[in-house]
Amino acid sequence: MLEQHDREYVEGRVRAGVLEQTTVDLLDRLGLGARMHEEGLVHAGVNLAHDGEMFRIDLEALTGGSTVMVYGQQEIMKDLFDAAAERGVEIIFEAEDVRPHGIDGDHPYVTWRKEGREERLECAFVAGCDGYHGVSRGCIPTTVLKTFERSYPFGWLGILAEVPPANHELIYCNHERGFALASMRSPARSRCYVQCPLEDRLEDWPDDRFWDEFCLRLGVESAAKVARGQSFEKSIAPLRSFVAEPMRFGRLFLAGDAAHIVPPTGAKGLNLAAADVALLAEALNEHFNRGSSDSIAGYSARALSRTWKAERFSWWFTALMHRFPENGPIERRLQVAELDYIRGSRAAQTALAENYVGLPLEWTTK
Ligand code: PHB
Repeated sequence: MLEQHDREYVEGRVRAGVLEQTTVDLLDRLGLGARMHEEGLVHAGVNLAHDGEMFRIDLEALTGGSTVMVYGQQEIMKDLFDAAAERGVEIIFEAEDVRPHGIDGDHPYVTWRKEGREERLECAFVAGCDGYHGVSRGCIPTTVLKTFERSYPFGWLGILAEVPPANHELIYCNHERGFALASMRSPARSRCYVQCPLEDRLEDWPDDRFWDEFCLRLGVESAAKVARGQSFEKSIAPLRSFVAEPMRFGRLFLAGDAAHIVPPTGAKGLNLAAADVALLAEALNEHFNRGSSDSIAGYSARALSRTWKAERFSWWFTALMHRFPENGPIERRLQVAELDYIRGSRAAQTALAENYVGLPLEWTTK
């Protein structure tokens, strides 16, 4: 495993926080779930709100027992790094200028630079897990690669603060002034977001302004439970939907953000990456241990089929909950009508719940 940054950087950057049931199951299957079960928070439900009116989607009841787990990506990274040596996974940190070569032939290799030395590794296959800005996707010829993309005309301003969350489960809010999300990392640490214009800068958002806006969008009842505290992390993230096809070319596989980006509404990004890697692991296992290459040939189609469904859900949930600058009063009324419909319909709630806890993986073997 070649990692561009050092371990401290990877463990320190604030990323996703909600694991699908499918991701929890995967970590368990690998024997990596012990600390997650000790420190993670199981959420059996999730809340939607508009104009201060809140209702709960009972994920567990609607899906026949599935829940989600609040456990930070940083914690998963720690657990993976801690277990790497024992699992026989060598990780080379601070690998600069990592590049795959010869992926359309039988002898691909990867080059990188470490401490001024040029290094080279002969490979059977290369897994490009290097994110949206990584080099792997660019190795697929433009005559083969198809990309699909939408940028959203707003961002998410997020903060972390050492204060108890406003609610024990997440609240996704649609408000006339824009979206807000009350999330958490632990019973003592809140992760909160408000939708903001893309042009906004962090200096525009001192903590007081953030909490005022967050409380306004949450509504009086939930706002009364918000503990304000000094933020120790604050960032603005753009929202994007993106898919690259195919996810395999020759001996290169793409996985995670290298192949697809979802807007964060629904918390699918990390979970999609974990699902890709699980399917890829199965394909490689079939190839090396059972001499069957069907799994490898089918990886792209299987990963993309699930990816597109998560893209669809994230796009839909984003459209339902945000204020779009080009929209007027009619679109807002339609959003509220849809939320009201979901509130009253077990079928609509079930559709939301089964997507939120994560759709099943399309294994080739059982
Ligand atoms: C988070 O806690 O960072 C989070 C939770 C749910 C989302 C997105 C982000 O949909």
